[in-house]
Parts: sequence; C-alpha cells; structure tokens
Amino acid sequence: MAVPEEVRRRVEALRAEIRRHDHLYHVLDRPEIPDAEYDKLFRELVALEEAYPELVTPDSPTQRAGAPPAEEFRPVPHAIPMLSLQNCFSLEEFREWDERVRRAVGDPEYVCEPKLDGLSVELVYVDGVFTLGSTRGDGRVGEEVTANLRTIRQLPLRLFPLDGKVPRLLEVRGEVYMEKAAFRKLNEERAKRGEPEFANPRNAAAGSLRQLDPAVTASRPLKLFLYHVGRVEGLELRTQVELLTTLPKLGLPVNPRWRVCRTVDEVEAFYQELLRERERLPYATDGMVVKVNDFRAREALGEIARAPRWAIAYKFPAEEAVTRVREIAVQVGRTGALTPVAILEPVEVSGVTVSRATLHNEDEVHRKDVRAGDWVVVRRAGEVIPEVVRPLPERRTGDEVPFRMPTHCPACGGPVVRPPGEAAHRCENISCPARIKESIRHYASRRGADIEGLGEKLVDTLVERGLVRRISDLYRLRKEDLVPLPRMGEKSAENLLRAIEGSKGLPLPRLLYALGIPHVGERAAELLAEHFGSLERLSAAGEEELTGIRGVGPEIAASVRSFFQNEENRKLVAELVALGVAGKGAPARGPLAGKTFVFTGALDGLTRAQAEKLVESLGGRVASGVSRNVDYVVVGRDPGEKLVRARELGIPLLTEAEFRALGGG
Ligand code: IVH
Repeated sequence: MAVPEEVRRRVEALRAEIRRHDHLYHVLDRPEIPDAEYDKLFRELVALEEAYPELVTPDSPTQRAGAPPAEEFRPVPHAIPMLSLQNCFSLEEFREWDERVRRAVGDPEYVCEPKLDGLSVELVYVDGVFTLGSTRGDGRVGEEVTANLRTIRQLPLRLFPLDGKVPRLLEVRGEVYMEKAAFRKLNEERAKRGEPEFANPRNAAAGSLRQLDPAVTASRPLKLFLYHVGRVEGLELRTQVELLTTLPKLGLPVNPRWRVCRTVDEVEAFYQELLRERERLPYATDGMVVKVNDFRAREALGEIARAPRWAIAYKFPAEEAVTRVREIAVQVGRTGALTPVAILEPVEVSGVTVSRATLHNEDEVHRKDVRAGDWVVVRRAGEVIPEVVRPLPERRTGDEVPFRMPTHCPACGGPVVRPPGEAAHRCENISCPARIKESIRHYASRRGADIEGLGEKLVDTLVERGLVRRISDLYRLRKEDLVPLPRMGEKSAENLLRAIEGSKGLPLPRLLYALGIPHVGERAAELLAEHFGSLERLSAAGEEELTGIRGVGPEIAASVRSFFQNEENRKLVAELVALGVAGKGAPARGPLAGKTFVFTGALDGLTRAQAEKLVESLGGRVASGVSRNVDYVVVGRDPGEKLVRARELGIPLLTEAEFRALGGG
C-alpha cells in the first residue's frame, strides 16, 4: 500500500519539529513549548509510524531506545587515532610547554576548555545522519556503542543543515559524562537496592555507556560535550574557535565555558577562575585543556608518544588521595551525638594536609565497610570537611579491625543510646565534659558569641578545672580564676574578661544560634528572633506557635521545645538573663518597650522603613507576620491579608494617627 504523500510530509515535518525541540530542551536548556505539547507531537509521530512502518528511519526521534541487547561489543577502528593528552601540574611546567610551542610556531593563540572527567567517544555522521558511535578503546580501535549513544538525548540523530547543507562526513569527538548531582542520585538509588555504588562520576558514565543492553543506558542520565574532530568532508574547520562555534549550529552540544588566551598570564587567570568555579560546576572536571587554536600550527607541531604536541592538560590539584586509617575514634559533639572519625596518616589533598576525616555515623561506617588499618580514598572538595570515600579492600592484610560503636561514652563513661529513627548514637549525660566543651566552643565561636581568646585549649582547661560547667559560668569568671592557668598572664586574662563582657550585647539571633539548640542554625535563629523578640518569650513558646512560623519546620519546633523544657536549660536561660545576656533586640527601655508591632498597608507620612525605625527607637519591635505575640497591628491604606489575620486573632488595630500618638506624636 502506497503511503499517502500528505502522511509522508507530515511525518517529516513532525520529525523536524521534534528535533528542534529536543535541541532546545536538551542542548540549549531553553524549551519553547510545554512538555505536554511536545508529548502530543511525539505521540502523533509514533502513531503515524505504527500505521506506516515503512516510513520508520533509524534517525527518527522515536528510534532512540529500543535496540535489542548485544552479545558483545564490536571492535571499531578509528580512521584517525584518538590520542591522549600530556599533563602538567604547575604553572612552571605549563610555562615550559608554552616556550616549546612558541619556539616551534611563533606567537600561538590558545583555546582553553575545562577537562571533563568522563569517557571519550567518537560519533560518525554520514550525510548528516548518526551512523556509528564508539569508545576510545586503546586509541586505534574502540568498541561500538552506537545503540547506547542513541539514548543520550543531547546527541542529535540527524544534524541541522548549515547554509542549506550537511557535511558528507563528520567524525566528531568528545566526552560522555554524568553530572555530579545525577551521579549522587544514582548512587543513592543503587545503595537502596543493595547494588554496588560507582566510585566517581567517570566510572558511572563509563559503566552506563558500556552496557550490552541499551535499555540500561537509556535509564542513566548521561550527557555529552564535543570538543574535537576526526575526518571531516564537506565542511571547513580551520581553528578550534571555528570548531566550537560551528558544532552547535549543526546541533552538536559544546561546553560553552571556553576562552581564547594569548599569554601564559591569560591562561593562568582562566585556570584560577575555573579552579574557583570547580565546586559549583555541574560536572566533574580534573583540569583545563590548553590547545593551539590554529589547525595548521597543530600540524607543524605534530605528535609524540601518542599525544599531540599542540595540547596539554593543566591538571587541578587532586581532590582525592589514598592513605591509611590509624584508628577509628569516636567524637562527642555538643548535642551528645557520637561521631566516628577516621584518624589518618597525614596526606595532602587539594593542597591541604588532612589527618582526620568524618565517617558521619555507625551505619555509614558499616555501609562503606571502613576498618581500622584500612587503606582508604579520602576526599576534600571545596570547603567541605574531609571524608572517607571508600576503602581499598584489595590492600587488606587481614589485620584490619571492623568498627563497633562503644556502648559507653568515651568522654564520661555514661550510657550511649540510639533514639529510634535516628542515625546518631548519643551520650545522654548533659554534664558530659565532652558535650560541655563542645557547647562552650560553639558558644564562643566566630559565628556565635565570637569571644576572642577563648580557644579550644583554653575551653578544655576551663572545663577540666571545673571553672566552667555551663555557658553562664563564663560570665562569672574572675581575673584570679584565669591568671594561674597555663599560657595565661594578667594582660591576656584582662583581655579575655573584656571579650566575655563585650559578648553581653550580642544580638538575639546570634545568641540563639550560640546556645547550640539542635537543628537551630543561623537561619532558624534569625526567624525565631524576629518572631519572638526575646529569649524569655521564645522559651515559653508552644510547639504550635513555633511551627506556625514560616521556615520553621516540625523538627526545629520540637527541638526548640524540648530544649526549653529541659530543667538545666531553663536554669541556663534564667541565669543568662540575670547576668545581662538577654540578646540585644530584647525589650528595651522606651514607651513601646516590650511591644510588638506589625504593619499592613501604606502609611501617609512615613515610609515603612521609617515607621519600623521609629518603633525600634522607642524600644518596641516589628514583626513581619501576625501571630498571638503581636501587640498591635498598624493599618494603613490598602491593608492586606495581615488585617484579616489580626481580626481573627483579635489583636488591637491602630490607625496611623493612633500609632503616632502612641509613640508620643
Ligand atoms: S582534546 C588529542 N578536550 O582527556 C586531543 N580532551 O587525558 C583530543 N578530555 O582522551 C582531546 N575534556 O577524553 C580534549 N576539553 C577536552 C577534554 C578532553 C576531557 C579527555 C579526553 C582525552 C583525555 C586525555
């Protein structure tokens, strides 16, 4: 049966439209139509292809998945070998390479690109149609992975024409990779199913692409960037810049983060830029590739030992290193949580010496199966605390000792419990010296009360000598307590006392954070301070009111509640208030002292900021939302929802004139 001409035309039109939207969505991140619209186009194409199977072509967007599993990977020779790159690890080494290039070709222009940590592949397009895809293999012969590559949505099955035509032949090369977030998610899912996790995004990408069953590859979130070509016919590319700007026009994805550099200084500046950005980039990168831009200059430079002379990988410092675990110690935090910590033989990671790494909790130690004596991979990414990534079981001798969580606190000998539903074991003794030390340290820390001169060692001494048992004791220290302590003199004792005294004026949010209430970080502390305005009010708050605050979830609410229900903590708060550490922003002197105001609608004679300043200058405070703690709601022109809420709660309403009168005009 002949296919009607209008069906043929409709199928072609649908394919062109779907290709365009695939490109917009997967390559440019700029979808033009909602998913539902796209699905409609796609379903129409599927229906037509089902009705007229003779119209199905391998480059149809419907043909990405669905190829049957292969028996083995077919070898594919690369017409032009896929080379590797020489490396350098420092500016000095890079300079030497640059000098060699300059001697050979004069004044070169470089193109710098992030070095992607994935798996390199070659895609062959014949007359614009994706016909063959292979891995690098040994550089001369790779493995055929065409069906697997087809499942990568960024890979065009057919190229867009350029000036009305597509190249006769295009062998294009690049990297298949997995984004860091997708890698973490994949590993989490695998852990849940009890499957082995991938060690890094590169292994995950390689493992996903080298699958005999393309359906498995299709289920993995692989991505693609192209950066090089093999044979090209019917298209002229003379420089890397031309290559990087032409490939996207054909629909091929290119990493936009590249730069032309003319001097070593410019190269170094871009390197430093990428290094700072590294953590935030969605993909893993282990360095920067510097390439001579001009292809004729590349020919003149040639290659050596399977690597081109015209390019070099300027590597970033390793984020991972291998070292031995001396022991697994257990640390007691200020909340009593017991954290297993790997004590390591010191090793340099990203330019910093690391001698301990967190293991988070008991489950984590067992999941990773880290044992005392193990060789392990440690990782330090950006600001993050170093962590043990995985052990190297192949290096085990049999003398390694599996970890067991102690049944008694290593600091005070008290019993250790694991509350149901929690990952952490806890020491429940609130007088545990380790807990006290940590809570004092946290209180004195930069982002807390910021007490200069109260360092770790001194905290240890103060707690061990019984001079400090809780935070309030800091404010009772006298000079004669301090002077006899090691490394302490008259002068430093006076300075410390002055710093402690100075912390009495601490703003309320900082004080709340410094108290170290579990789950109350800086953000939650701000929200709580804004809502309650004083330590006393917060300590009397019920759980319902707490959860009513936007941004305060049930976990924080329960934690705040239980903190202030604890007898010891209540005593602490009372003492702090008595000692004058109430947290600034608390009810002060003035006609509006202790009163909380909320504004809704516009005022006539004052801006909102001026009105808020006025309240504060008179000792009151301003909240952003209406709750039972609010004393007055000032109603201006065009009031909003807050007025409704105030009426519901029966909170006194003030006109602007009344408000002014209250403030003394
Ligand atoms: S250019 C011979 N550019 O690094 C020149 N390679 O260690 C072809 N790689 O096999 C490579 N990102 O898999 C080039 N922007 C980039 C790259 C890159 C990652 C990989 C590639 C290569 C390996 C060499």
